[in-house]
Amino acid sequence: MSVVGARPNFVKIAPLIKRFSERDIDHILIHTGQHYDYDMSRVFFSDLDIPEPDMNLGVGSGTHAVQTGRIMAALEKVLLAQQPDLTMVVGDVNSTIAAALASVKLGIPVAHVEAGYRSFDMHMPEEINRVLVDRISQLLFAPTENAVLNLMNEGTKRESVHFVGNIMIEALLSHKEQADQSSVLSDLSLEEKDYCLATVHRPQNVDDPTRLTSILEAFSQSPLPVIFPAHPRTKEAITRFGLNSLLDSSITIITPLGYLDFIRLLSSAACVLTDSGGIQEEALILQVPCVTLRETTERVETIAAGANRLCSPQRDHILTSLEKALQSTGVFEIPLFWDERVSTRIVDVIEQREFAIPSYSMI
Ligand code: UD1
Repeated sequence: MSVVGARPNFVKIAPLIKRFSERDIDHILIHTGQHYDYDMSRVFFSDLDIPEPDMNLGVGSGTHAVQTGRIMAALEKVLLAQQPDLTMVVGDVNSTIAAALASVKLGIPVAHVEAGYRSFDMHMPEEINRVLVDRISQLLFAPTENAVLNLMNEGTKRESVHFVGNIMIEALLSHKEQADQSSVLSDLSLEEKDYCLATVHRPQNVDDPTRLTSILEAFSQSPLPVIFPAHPRTKEAITRFGLNSLLDSSITIITPLGYLDFIRLLSSAACVLTDSGGIQEEALILQVPCVTLRETTERVETIAAGANRLCSPQRDHILTSLEKALQSTGVFEIPLFWDERVSTRIVDVIEQREFAIPSYSMI
């Protein structure tokens, strides 16, 4: 059984579902309903050819405890009825931790795809989710060598960890041609490499009016126009803090984009400004310089490759980082196993393994 709930989960599960079906592995897909708007959920299923979920738990939004608790309570009933041999979770969102916890407490083993990423910043809800999910999972599929090291440093048993590569990148590479057909560039009257793309949605950036003001001021002073597909939380915050007047003609705010349109827009951007995790990696593969509006990142390979720079969300710092990013030249080196065989490696491991939850000291 795979459990997904939020936008980045849908991207990560797509290649795995193809592999499960190729190998005739019985599989049930559960959508928790964490994301429910058409442009946060449905469009990803159609763009990525993901089959209709077998069930949608419809939990919706809420505080962290409410959302996580609702998912656990609803999923427990499904797990008891379906008795899967393995629960598969991806990424680091609330649906990921809720599904892992509900499963392992019923004695159902958990496989975590994208295990071992660490920002070492426990203020991030995703970091809490990552650490806890890895601690209670029996199969840990790591995207990078560094993620393997993080797990080893935490005392994880070597046999539980499999270095398989980056599943998000497999999704990207296998949909790149389709994305190239998107008309989004002409729809928005944009020219290749003549604009910056921006996404901002982390609570640290958008729930703080000072930070959000700094970010929007920097966007409006950017040397290139900024295309800004805004998360519903961000749009709501801009209105709540009375910041609509900062959205001048150099910022084009649009609704969140589907997967293919977003990849098309990213691949043709001169630079991307973001506080997302996955976009830092997609930018590296597409050879687009990235400015990450955060003080830490769990995606350290993107920094090492010279494709990404961290930046505290203050106006002048953002503008300096943007200027440097726009000047960057050269080809960014792609980390090992960020390729089209990640889901194959994962399913190979799953097919070869016996699943059982080992005793506590063995995990
Ligand atoms: C979640 C993930 C984050 C991920 C992001 C991707 C957690 C802790 N965070 O954050 O890691 O980067 O998804 O998009 O799981 N909302 C809508 N429509 C929707 C979904 C949400 O309007 O379909 C609004 C609601 O006001 C909601 C808010 O967005 O309260 C936050 O949604 P939520 O799923 O709780 O967290 P995200 O900020 O989307």
